[in-house]
Amino acid sequence: MDLGFAGRRVLVVGASAGIGFATAQMLAAEGAEVLIASRDPAGIAAAAERIAAATGRRPATAVADITVEGAADALLGHVATRWGALDALVDAVGGSIRSGFEALSDADWIGNYTFNVLSAVRTVRAALPLLRQGAAPSIVLLGAAASRMPYPNQVVSNVHKAGLLGLTKTLAGEYAAEGIRVNCVAPGRTLTRLWTDRAAKMAAERNVSAEDVIAEFAHEIPLGRFGTPEEVAAMVVWLSSPRAAYVTGQTVNVDGGIARGLL
Ligand SMILES: NC(=O)c1ccc[n+]([C@@H]2O[C@H](COP(=O)([O-])OP(=O)(O)OC[C@H]3O[C@@H](n4cnc5c(N)ncnc54)[C@H](OP(=O)(O)O)[C@@H]3O)[C@@H](O)[C@H]2O)c1
Repeated sequence: MDLGFAGRRVLVVGASAGIGFATAQMLAAEGAEVLIASRDPAGIAAAAERIAAATGRRPATAVADITVEGAADALLGHVATRWGALDALVDAVGGSIRSGFEALSDADWIGNYTFNVLSAVRTVRAALPLLRQGAAPSIVLLGAAASRMPYPNQVVSNVHKAGLLGLTKTLAGEYAAEGIRVNCVAPGRTLTRLWTDRAAKMAAERNVSAEDVIAEFAHEIPLGRFGTPEEVAAMVVWLSSPRAAYVTGQTVNVDGGIARGLL
């Protein structure tokens, strides 16, 4: 199936690793013009090299800490200078804090809100003028299975990732008349740095191996294993494509069946 990415200009934020990286690589392989951004200059340069080696198409790069005020405006200013318009935005920045409720400070709450929600708000707001100039414009945010099924010991991201569902639905309604689609992909447990770091930490605390920790958490997943970044990226890429022209306001779980609710 031709997804229609030839010449399509896509910005992927949080793209040096994990789901953002897999998305950017898949987009490049589909023929898109891709601009990738994240914080570490060496990390984003290495990601561009890997994508160029794998696809023959080198993405443009930008360095940005999207949690910092003004960073999204500067990043989208860079996109404006380069392309003058944007066809699709993917925001793959976010994460959780594993902690019980009472151990979380105001700073933890505000920091995680900025990481998961405010950074997306600022990025979308800065991107909208460029998306209006784009073709079949699309926005995809990264939520979490926890948006729909709160995980124990992760209250702060349970709250903030659920907020992204509301943001997605509201923006989809607000911008549908302009032809801008807004969707969210909600991964379950996906083997990226986020989980390898977490498993290593938990393994050290419990004096077991990281593989044991991963196996324990995989046991709760109906499909019996963690997802891969590529499996999540496939949904992000499809939703970003003109093939998904009639899909907006949706949060789609890619979670091996872990979220068992009906909605
Ligand atoms: N992996 C999972 O199991 C899982 C489950 C549910 C939801 N998700 C969601 O899926 C999304 C991607 O997760 P992932 O597992 O792919 O994460 P990851 O492997 O940790 O990769 C995160 C990417 O974002 C960049 N990044 C981090 N903070 C940033 C910032 N402030 N500004 C700009 N770039 C930043 C990182 O590069 P630098 O460090 O160089 O900036 C890296 O490229 C997140 O929203 C996460 O909450 C993941």
